Amino acid sequence: MAKIKQVFAREILDAKGNPTIETTVILNDNATGTASVPCGTSVSNYEAVDVRDHDQSRFLGLGVLKAIDNVQKVIAPKLVGLDAQNQQEVDRVMIELDGTQNKSRLGGNSILSVSIAVAKAAAKSSVLPVYLYLREYIKKENLPLKIPTPVFNLINGGKHAGDNVDFQEFIIVPASFKSYSESLQIAYTVYENLRGLLRKNSMPTLVGDEGGFGPSFPTNEEALQMLAQSIELSNLRLGYDVFFGLDVAANSFYKDKGYKIKDKAMSLSASDMTALYAQLVKKYNILYLEDPLSEDDWEGWAALSKTLGPETILIGDDITSTNPYRLQMALDKKAISGIIIKPNQIGTVIEALAVVEVARAAGIKLIVSHRSGETNDDFIADFAVAVSSDYLKFGAPVRGERVAKYNRLMQIEQQLHVI
Ligand code: PGA
Ligand code: ZN
Repeated sequence: MAKIKQVFAREILDAKGNPTIETTVILNDNATGTASVPCGTSVSNYEAVDVRDHDQSRFLGLGVLKAIDNVQKVIAPKLVGLDAQNQQEVDRVMIELDGTQNKSRLGGNSILSVSIAVAKAAAKSSVLPVYLYLREYIKKENLPLKIPTPVFNLINGGKHAGDNVDFQEFIIVPASFKSYSESLQIAYTVYENLRGLLRKNSMPTLVGDEGGFGPSFPTNEEALQMLAQSIELSNLRLGYDVFFGLDVAANSFYKDKGYKIKDKAMSLSASDMTALYAQLVKKYNILYLEDPLSEDDWEGWAALSKTLGPETILIGDDITSTNPYRLQMALDKKAISGIIIKPNQIGTVIEALAVVEVARAAGIKLIVSHRSGETNDDFIADFAVAVSSDYLKFGAPVRGERVAKYNRLMQIEQQLHVI
């Protein structure tokens, strides 16, 4: 048994240049774990809350000195001496100390950085890679140890790219029979062919927050058309080798009870949006559809789910927020057939694992996801493998903070061949 000896935290910058918290945990056998937490841009109302300083004289109010104080002065004294290999107890103590529904007292950012740092230190102390250590906390019988199918966000829109198009992410999903390294090559090839097409059309090849290209298109559908062309140029068959996905992030253009997008002159209702999606799904082989409607439009989601049928995975992100109550509501209303798992939406490793278990028992697809404001921390890659998720979502295969995860998966893929 290795006990927690010291916990300290510091302010670092995320990939968008904003401050975030990084925590180091040291155990009494000198094993250490360091973890930093990401931050979203399209954040739902149901997520764990990050504590920030709101002191305009530092980082325009986004500093995390208060969160650091919470780790070092409030959390650390209660954790020192606890068994690091008892993640349930570590996370329970922090949840109780915080005492709120949304972790707004101590901060989801403070709590999660400690939770992950403890897991990493405990894995080191157990001489296990993090993905194998975390499997101690899940029901792993009959769960294959494999790299989940990656989905790649190749065109960035919405809040991730300055409102060039309304939909936030235009995604390709390599067929699940492809190996991880083959899938990465597919993403590379389609991405480079897309770059070529953009150049040919005198369009900018600058990238958005998640590494996808961020040019302006007159309509959302035209972005899909260009992506389809890039797939063809890559000698890949849409609907066989690769499929399309969209993370619409519909909250970002839902205003005054309507959805306003470039494709139509008038603001659209949920049923108009449903008709549009049904058309796009058919025309472009859309397998993966995330956040197509706003986070409180339960009726719209349930109706869309009926219209689309089982061929398209209807994925909740903002609507479910990795929250057990929101997931249960979504299941009761038959609103989703897949769920995004983002540990920082709930705030501890154990609670994220619990949401995974409920979703799996309900038979819906699991998608483990990064955030747009990532750091170089690669924990999320190990987490995705540990829980045997169906898919993982780490952005385009470029930019250091995205590639950190993809490269970690290359290491894991190699290890899985020799285990
Ligand atoms: P975010 O977006 O990290 O900016 O919230 C990611 C997503 O919506 O999936
Ligand atoms: Zn999303």
